[in-house]
Amino acid sequence: MAPERGFQGETLLDVRDLKVHFPTPDGVVKAVDGLSFTVHRGETFGIVGESGSGKSVTNLTALGLVNRKAAQIEGEVLFKGRDLLKLTPGELRHVRGKELAMIFQDPFASLHPMYRVGDQLIEAVKVHSNVSKKQAEERVLELLGAVGIPRPRERFRDYPHQFSGGMRQRAMIAMALTHNPDILIADEPTTALDVTVQAQILELIDHVKREFDIGVILITHDLGVIADVSQTVMVMYAGRAMELAPKDELFRKPLHPYTWGLLDSMPRIAQKGTRLLPIEGAPPSLINVPPGCAFHPRCPHRFQPCDRERPAFADRGGGHPEACHLTIEDKRRLWAERDARRLGVAV
Ligand SMILES: Nc1ncnc2c1ncn2[C@@H]1O[C@H](COP(=O)(O)OP(=O)(O)O)[C@@H](O)[C@H]1O
Ligand SMILES: [Mg+2]
Repeated sequence: MAPERGFQGETLLDVRDLKVHFPTPDGVVKAVDGLSFTVHRGETFGIVGESGSGKSVTNLTALGLVNRKAAQIEGEVLFKGRDLLKLTPGELRHVRGKELAMIFQDPFASLHPMYRVGDQLIEAVKVHSNVSKKQAEERVLELLGAVGIPRPRERFRDYPHQFSGGMRQRAMIAMALTHNPDILIADEPTTALDVTVQAQILELIDHVKREFDIGVILITHDLGVIADVSQTVMVMYAGRAMELAPKDELFRKPLHPYTWGLLDSMPRIAQKGTRLLPIEGAPPSLINVPPGCAFHPRCPHRFQPCDRERPAFADRGGGHPEACHLTIEDKRRLWAERDARRLGVAV
């Protein structure tokens, strides 16, 4: 069961105990290992974690884009009550694009370099709906306007290389919105962009979330990216959820030592003038995930049970589930001390 928490709004996606394991010649890659979360209409749900923590695999599985023959998939991905893991490839194709749409880090991966942007969008409109070319074109112009592409009638005839990185990402968002999906999944949508353009694209994602009344899953390795636009944040490590909380709560009162490490190592979060403290060590290979808590070898607060017992991902009060053996009291104290040190305040 996904833990209960505060966000009001229709539940769109309810992921329950999802496991995605890839058998390989070197061993089983446990890319996702027991993940539960819910996403609501009107919510931007941020998923954050270092590279290789299973963020993309989680969402590609939900979209049916992970080859079921190459992976052992368990659990449920309920989209408006229907388990996406039980759909046929044909049914999934229908859901994907029409009800759940995804954008990626590299818009070139989805835009064909040899065709005009407008024509590609027209094709996208026509895939799922029986409209004339003229109607499709009107819809595309409307969408290009909605995502803030200036002079859409002229830009419509451009090729992708004539668009800047930010404009290409806007075009991808337009394409994703073609069929009024309920959920937009954005996987590192701003990682390839420079900082000012990043901020504009995040603002646009926030704008379309409200305008189109959808839910958004925003995947990133950078806590700074979700700081402004997410309502809820899930922190992932080694294919597992470490902590899940309303965004403000996560930044003000984080409960998991891994989150503390992320906060201390993020340049945009740490205060100006304070030293950045990277988390020591590296994330584990997902073929050899450490026993007990996957984070314990890197955790400065590890103690007795951490290398043996896997802490349950559970809400220990306050609608803020996490997976750590420390008591809530210890966590509150340790974070207060750490936070004070970080801000240069005497404890
Ligand atoms: N088809 C596959 N076969 C084997 N391992 C895979 C496959 N796809 C992804 N992985 C592994 O799953 C892990 C999680 O990957 P991913 O979800 O892409 O991480 P993230 O998006 O958090 O950076 C990585 O170790 C990756 O190498
Ligand atoms: Mg990824």
